[in-house]
Amino acid sequence: MEEHLNEIDGEMHSSKNFFSVPISLFQIDKIVDFDLYLRIKDKEPVLYRAKSLPIYENDISRLKERGIETLYVHSDNKREYKRYLETHLKNILSDKNVPVQKRTDILYTVTTQAVKEMLEDTRSGELLPRSRNLVETTLDFIFHEPTAFQCMLKVTNFDYYTHTHSVNVGIFSVFLAKEINFLEEELLRFGMASLLHDIGKCRVDPKIVNFPGKLSEEQFEQMKKHPEYGYEILTQEHGLKDTLQLDVVRHHHEKLTGNGYPDKLRGNEISIYARVSAIVDIFDALTTRRSYKNAFSSFDAFKLMKDKMSDELDQEIFKKFVLLMSVKKQPFSPS
Ligand SMILES: [Fe+2]
Ligand SMILES: [Fe+2]
Repeated sequence: MEEHLNEIDGEMHSSKNFFSVPISLFQIDKIVDFDLYLRIKDKEPVLYRAKSLPIYENDISRLKERGIETLYVHSDNKREYKRYLETHLKNILSDKNVPVQKRTDILYTVTTQAVKEMLEDTRSGELLPRSRNLVETTLDFIFHEPTAFQCMLKVTNFDYYTHTHSVNVGIFSVFLAKEINFLEEELLRFGMASLLHDIGKCRVDPKIVNFPGKLSEEQFEQMKKHPEYGYEILTQEHGLKDTLQLDVVRHHHEKLTGNGYPDKLRGNEISIYARVSAIVDIFDALTTRRSYKNAFSSFDAFKLMKDKMSDELDQEIFKKFVLLMSVKKQPFSPS
């Protein structure tokens, strides 16, 4: 899947081997770890700058003098390009010269790619610092950009993959937690946990995780182990001790009725953090498309959650989530 690549990469060159990058995204004096190409009129792109060299202010001014606003990157370097964006994400997102929708798109795409890599290698020592950086940057962005929420709704991926689901739950949990007035330091910890809430799925057989249909009872029993696996990965492999974060990872499938898993917690035994992520988690699972099922509309997802899950989910939080998703979505998506 190539999630949102086209939006942030700009137009693909006709040869399909290059994608365009606005020069405004390049950070002055910072090393660029991939070759940059220039394209004059309809000609094939030519090498402008070999990798491992920084871009200087002079370079940008000269390009602008020549009326050049775009450079090109070979599609083989897409990964390095996204890593470059991730490294400089905070600066890029605070650049008011880049439209807020574009910045939101970059944030979503970079986060999605990063989480994909993190889930592919959950032992990496970068796991926690990288997710902390992503969530800190996201929080900074949403606190400074009043339209970030609406912009985010426009770029969210509605095809279900564990990494896109993780990002959707991570981002929308943070928006909801902000509405509920979580403290700022709680938002950071909670956001990281939401981003990593399904990390335990990497220990479940991929055939089950990606099974194109309803799981058999036996398969579901395997799948139900992912919150405990996630807890183990974070405590044993990463030495995580933060109780809020561990609670979200372990308890996002608990239900107020006591019918959830893995600990069958009930009522007040379930923290507000786990309650928030449970709601966002279910909503995203319903409103995304899989090979064997269509996506529910937001309206139908909320209706199902209200009709069938009202005793399982915290109703106060649920109402706030419905309000958040419906009121703010209206100007952009009247449906
Ligand atoms: Fe889960
Ligand atoms: Fe989930």
